[in-house]
Amino acid sequence: MDSKIEVTICLGSSCFSRKNRDVVTALQDLIVTKNLGNLVNLKGGHCFGKCSMGPIMIVDEQCFTEITPMKAVAIVESFVLNKS
Ligand code: FES
Repeated sequence: MDSKIEVTICLGSSCFSRKNRDVVTALQDLIVTKNLGNLVNLKGGHCFGKCSMGPIMIVDEQCFTEITPMKAVAIVESFVLNKS
């Protein structure tokens, strides 16, 4: 089986103040409602040094900045589509 899509949300304090928590909640909901647990590995990471552009999300080593819940869901869904 192919490896999972690795999704890392920055949990640093600056990204926290920019509402990274809402992004985490949206992605957790996506994974549950679309049953993506076997395809997506969601985890938290330390500061990536791009605080002024946060919240930061890394997907399979690609960095995405100024992430909103909607953007995060769309990006992860596109990775899932590309993988299937
Ligand atoms: S706190 Fe998220 S990049 Fe620094």
